[in-house]
This record gives sequence, structure tokens and C-alpha cells, in this order.
Amino acid sequence: MTTALSIDSPRVEDGAAIWRIARDSEVLDLNSSYSYLLWCRDFATTSVVARGTDGEPIAFVTGYIRPQRPQTLVVWQVAVDDAHRGRGLAGTLLDALTHRVAARHGIRSIETTVTPDNTASDRLFTSYADRHGASLHREVLFEGGLFPDGGHEPEVLYRIGPIAG
Ligand SMILES: CC(C)(COP(=O)(O)OP(=O)(O)OC[C@H]1O[C@@H](n2cnc3c(N)ncnc32)[C@H](O)[C@@H]1OP(=O)(O)O)[C@@H](O)C(=O)NCCC(=O)NCCS
Repeated sequence: MTTALSIDSPRVEDGAAIWRIARDSEVLDLNSSYSYLLWCRDFATTSVVARGTDGEPIAFVTGYIRPQRPQTLVVWQVAVDDAHRGRGLAGTLLDALTHRVAARHGIRSIETTVTPDNTASDRLFTSYADRHGASLHREVLFEGGLFPDGGHEPEVLYRIGPIAG
């Protein structure tokens, strides 16, 4: 079994693997492969990958700084390859990313959205808030009816802060 050797900023060459991990999760909204390549080019400092022994990504977190709130990191997507789940990898990546982004961009809070049926994601962010002694506020950001493709769960905004990195 491959173990994570390193935590790294994504490169454009990682875009395809990140797209595959997102696709295989069967939970995340899968965006175009183009968007993951672009993300690796333009948002590399606010995103992170874990690499296996062969250097290929086995997990990722993508994020961006909110343009109107430069002290807030929005965590866009998190996924761990199925074979590597349940061992704290997502939590480790989230800690590493927020530590880096706090040092570089001075963020004080993170935001993400979670669908009510995603227990693992809820645990990941609740546990993150506990670990960092931060408060966690939840409110619906996008009601299901806003989505044009139908049958979408509401997206609940999790706002976590203050964080020191
Ligand atoms: C959510 C996901 C990233 C978690 O990755 P992971 O490396 O297995 O998570 P961790 O081992 O770091 O666990 C983080 C917390 O979630 C809990 N957890 C992980 N998987 C869980 C599951 N299936 N059910 C319930 N809790 C779970 C862990 O117990 C841990 O909680 P704790 O700190 O209170 O012990 C992974 O399951 C995944 O890729 N899911 C598909 C994509 C997805 O749903 N992404 C999140 C939405 S953006």
C-alpha cells in the first residue's frame, strides 16, 4: 500500500490526477478537467496535494482566498483516494494547507460548504475546528432549489475561526 511521502503544492501536471480522484470519489461535484489544470496553475499557493511513493497525488485540497474577504480561505474541494482514507490524511492536509496560507496570506478563518448527507466531511471540519480551538458556525449558503441540475442537496456553509495557522 502506498503511503504519503510528501505534502506539496500542486503543479499543472497534477491536474489530471486531481480530476481522477474527484471523479472516483463519486461524491464531489466533478468539474471539467480544464478547471483542475487551471486551478493548479492559478491557485497552487492555496491548494495542496499528498503524493504517494511514485510522486502521484493520492489526495488533495483545493482552495482560494475570498476576493472580498482576504483573511478568509475558502476550501473548495477535499478528496482522498479510497485506498488511503480513514487514517487522518485529510485532516493532515487541511492543517498543512491552513498553516501555509496563514503564514503567506495572513488568513484568520476558513469557509467551506458541506452537504447534510456527508458525515465524513462534517467530521473532518468539526474536528479541525476542535483541534484549532476555533468556533464553527453553520448556515445554509445555497438551497437545493438554486441548482439548475435538480436533486442537489443544500450546501451548508461552515465558517471556522479564528485560526492562528
Ligand atoms: C471526506 C474525506 C476527504 C475524508 O478523508 P480521510 O483522510 O479519510 O479523513 P480523516 O482520516 O482525516 O478523518 C477526518 C475525520 O473524519 C472522520 N471520518 C472519516 N471518514 C469518515 C466516515 N466515512 N464516516 C464518519 N466519519 C469519518 C474521521 O473519524 C475523523 O474524525 P475525528 O477527527 O473526529 O476522528 C474522504 O472520505 C473523501 O475523499 N470523501 C469523498 C469526497 C468528499 O466527500 N469530500 C468532502 C467534501 S468537499
